[in-house]
Amino acid sequence: MSLLAPAGSGAIRYVAARKLWHLEAGPVSYVIGVNEKNELQSIYWGKRLWRDDDLAAAHSNPEWASFDNSGNTTPQEYPGWGGGRYIEPCLKVTLPDGVRDLVLHYVSHTIDGDTLRIEMKDIAYGLEVTLAYQVYPESGVIRKSAVIRNRTSGPVTLESAQSGAWNLPRGEGYRLTYLSGRWAGEWQINREPIHPGMKVIESRRGNTSHQANPWFAIDEGSADEERGRVWFGAIGWSGNWRLSIEQTSHQQVRVTGGFNPFDFSYRLGSGESLETPPFYGGFTDGGFGEASRILHRFERVNIMPGGATARLRPVLYNSWEATEFAVDEAGQKALAAKAAKLGVERFVMDDGWFGARNNDRAGLGDWTVNRQKFPNGLGPLIDAVNSLGMDFGLWVEPEMVNPDSNLYRQHPDWAMHFPDRPRTEARNQLVLNMAREDVKNYIFEALDRLLVENPKIAFLKWDMNRNFSEPGWPEAPVEQQKELWVAYTRNVYEIIDRLRKKHPKLEIESCSGGGGRVDLGILSRTDEVWTSDNTDAFDRLRIQEGFSYAYTPKAMMAWVTDVPNFNGRSTPLQYRFLVAMMGSLGIGGNLNKWSADDMALATRMVYLYKSIRKTVQEGSLFRLFSPDAGTFSATEYVSGDGRQAVLFAFRSAQDYGYPPPVVRLSGLDERAVYRVKTIDRKLTGGLETVSGAYLMNRGIDLRLGGDFDSTAVVFERLE
Ligand code: DGJ
Repeated sequence: MSLLAPAGSGAIRYVAARKLWHLEAGPVSYVIGVNEKNELQSIYWGKRLWRDDDLAAAHSNPEWASFDNSGNTTPQEYPGWGGGRYIEPCLKVTLPDGVRDLVLHYVSHTIDGDTLRIEMKDIAYGLEVTLAYQVYPESGVIRKSAVIRNRTSGPVTLESAQSGAWNLPRGEGYRLTYLSGRWAGEWQINREPIHPGMKVIESRRGNTSHQANPWFAIDEGSADEERGRVWFGAIGWSGNWRLSIEQTSHQQVRVTGGFNPFDFSYRLGSGESLETPPFYGGFTDGGFGEASRILHRFERVNIMPGGATARLRPVLYNSWEATEFAVDEAGQKALAAKAAKLGVERFVMDDGWFGARNNDRAGLGDWTVNRQKFPNGLGPLIDAVNSLGMDFGLWVEPEMVNPDSNLYRQHPDWAMHFPDRPRTEARNQLVLNMAREDVKNYIFEALDRLLVENPKIAFLKWDMNRNFSEPGWPEAPVEQQKELWVAYTRNVYEIIDRLRKKHPKLEIESCSGGGGRVDLGILSRTDEVWTSDNTDAFDRLRIQEGFSYAYTPKAMMAWVTDVPNFNGRSTPLQYRFLVAMMGSLGIGGNLNKWSADDMALATRMVYLYKSIRKTVQEGSLFRLFSPDAGTFSATEYVSGDGRQAVLFAFRSAQDYGYPPPVVRLSGLDERAVYRVKTIDRKLTGGLETVSGAYLMNRGIDLRLGGDFDSTAVVFERLE
């Protein structure tokens, strides 16, 4: 008998006769079975299958000589390290009596709506694992996680605890795409063939990191933006994470992800358990473009606070690049007045407002208002900002302490350290050991007090400007000190969750010196992220493109700042605006220095942005011409209801006098007619109305030349 769920719905079915589960996640099928050895075997991940009768019961693969037993040749869902397996394990343990062998077998399962839970247990010991699979039918995304439980009578040490493994269809010729970078150079796209062996991308830095991001995409070697099978995934964890992309000697490509096993050790007392971070996976045959669009929708609807009903991101102003640490009431009020004139909706005062914070050498940890700069507290500035029609946001960096601070003088032991060893400073600061309960509670109370005393603070920009060093926790028992890596992140999450619960209107931006803490874990509890400290519009084109592979433009904060930028480049104000308008628009320039013409252009741009922001933030994104591929780039956004499309185009340099390439749009209705609105008449042919068929097949010609030219064209669908 075949059971078929209606299209677009999700279903998890257990086919008892063949001991397999068919997870139907909208357009995607994921199939797992229990094989004749009672192992949990991966059977299929890809485009949706409709006929359960096609699916044979799982059966292990034969061994390959005496060197690879069937545990190595059979794709498994959650292999333990034991039983002669050499593939990357999902779980590695030392049992109470020193045994380091783990063979997990299927015990039972439950299906609860869109969630399947499978219980596994070691063949001899009371070491249990619950695998949870949640399907998201609208997107085809599946969320995996594991709870590891010690039901033995003594302590168990976990040495690797992964969220799960994704097995691709057996074969070779796969290609990996991933994101790497560094401070001010995040989100660089890397694409390379997958060969036998293992490629590891990871963070050992305590947070998600600028250097690598916990996202991957794998295709069969020839996918492009519009076509080709792409399997993709992301870990929701803002601490040390690892993705191992492995091609076994049996042509099996598998991606294992979860807590980074580096310097990892987690002790489970009898009866205790550890839950891994979520590991999300998705599939499309519509190329990298569709893979990104699936993730964007999924993040907005299923991950970010407020889900599908979350408000659009307001246009914000941020003081950092204008005033750095030299903030005071009069100066901020003056900037706020100018920002309001541009149509800004949120005014954010960045670093410098607290403690003895006149530079980056002092004050972190002392979250009280600096009375020299704000003699009457923050109230008068907040009131002024509110009376200008904007809400007020404030910068904080709660996890850090300057040695030159009252907090450090009172609690030097609160900083992460190993006793009697140097404490490595970065930006003159140390990391508080947030794994400690007292530190966690102190930070929660400090932030809560700030919000209680200033109830009109609508937004916190939560920064983190360095990575861990000397990750010691001397107060904890020696065998538990490495748990700091996990407990730290858990406690940061807990503080954010508690603050949001107590102050339900509060919004938060995740920042870590730019894009150092962007992942699906932090995105589930913050409303936006700071993409990069690099605000140079030309660099930003590539930074933002890389970001868009994995994360929604709604979360992507992008500011218009002054030129020349930090790398010496100057670009026109319109170019800077249009680049920033491809995400969540912010302004970060020193408005005191902007000319009347600049202010007028900025006002027009903010006005335009408000008319297209729903499309940009919540629409479908099409990367038409990559800034990586040449001097011309173009990105298009189509609104969810198909009524509006927006094209952004950039000519960063003129080469050989060639005109820009013809731009063919995507995602429109061929039969529909669209009214064309240009911002500066750079569309040739004087088109006023045009069909979707023309736009998508003939395409348009743009007049862009010289250096750093730019334009935007808006298409409104006519009835
Ligand atoms: C790093 C952030 O990314 C910047 O935007 C700014 O907030 C500074 N920190 C302030 O110290």
